[in-house]
Amino acid sequence: MTEQKPVSDTNAAKVTLPDAQTVSTVKHWTDRLFSFRVARPASLRFRSGEFVMIGLMGDNGKPLLRAYSIASPAWDEELEFYSIKVPEGPLTSKLQHIQPGDQIILRPKPVGTLVHDALLPGKRIWFLATGTGLAPFASLMREPETYEKYDEVIMMHTCRTVDELEYGRVLVESLKDDPLIGELVGDKLKYYPTTTREDFHHMGRITDNLSSGKVFADLGLAPMDPATDRAMVCGSLAFNKDVMEVLENFGLREGANSEPREYVVEKAFVGDGI
Ligand code: FAD
Ligand code: A2P
Repeated sequence: MTEQKPVSDTNAAKVTLPDAQTVSTVKHWTDRLFSFRVARPASLRFRSGEFVMIGLMGDNGKPLLRAYSIASPAWDEELEFYSIKVPEGPLTSKLQHIQPGDQIILRPKPVGTLVHDALLPGKRIWFLATGTGLAPFASLMREPETYEKYDEVIMMHTCRTVDELEYGRVLVESLKDDPLIGELVGDKLKYYPTTTREDFHHMGRITDNLSSGKVFADLGLAPMDPATDRAMVCGSLAFNKDVMEVLENFGLREGANSEPREYVVEKAFVGDGI
């Protein structure tokens, strides 16, 4: 596990209000992944699935900000984030050391394409994510509108190893007993986690499991159909590009807030991965 260092001396003292928010909890899932929760500014309204800019004060006294999906749903009193730790990453090499009580900068201007308004009405929705691309779906899986709009919600999440799936597994597990949305979720949510580089009960890339029909067979579902199926995609650029091709082969077309269609896509990060 990564060594824990307080950042208060380099961070909190320099943050200029009103964009500073206090960290309430931090959980490290692996040496590459952690999640944390911060106080929610009273004025911040967002749609589940959107992202904001968050960060810390840089050594040069200027804010060092990066895009982050809000992993908590729009109704939550706090904001949750699910983060990578890039060893030499300008932000996450520091952010990974935050502790409860520290402050981060949060620019309260939520935006994004992974929102229900960007899709035409349908019967099933597919959430397709690799790595930290799960974050917007951690929000949308806890959003009542998801279950009000769709009969079935299929969450496909793929990582290289089993431990990288843990945040999503724990979250999905918690939904059943959630006093606020547990009943709405019922048995509508079908969770299909896979690994690609470690043995697991389900394996393989999302693209392959969709193209081969394996996921439909495993879950007992009919193949994707543009009349009934909607999808939201969040992963690396390469993943997004390849999965878009698969969705187009099923007849789905990319939509946007301004022109709702059958699927929407957002980058989980910029770059080729680490
Ligand atoms: P950077 O200089 O930003 O990145 C260095 C390199 O690390 C990148 O070139 C890339 O190869 C790799 N990298 C960066 N982020 C990731 C990642 N998430 N997974 C795998 N490799 C990565 N990151 C999150 O951890 N959680 C989020 O919810 C999240 N949401 C995002 C939403 C959008 C719309 C975008 C564009 C990016 C999002 N990111 C998210 C990525 C985030 O903005 C930063 O890139 C990340 O926090 C690393 O910052 P850094 O300054 O340490 O390194
Ligand atoms: P694989 O192990 O076969 O490369 P990464 O950690 O590199 O961001 O990848 C996260 C997950 O996404 C891995 O399981 C990886 O599978 C998968 N993946 C990476 N690129 C693609 C792609 N172009 N299409 C489908 N899945 C991909």
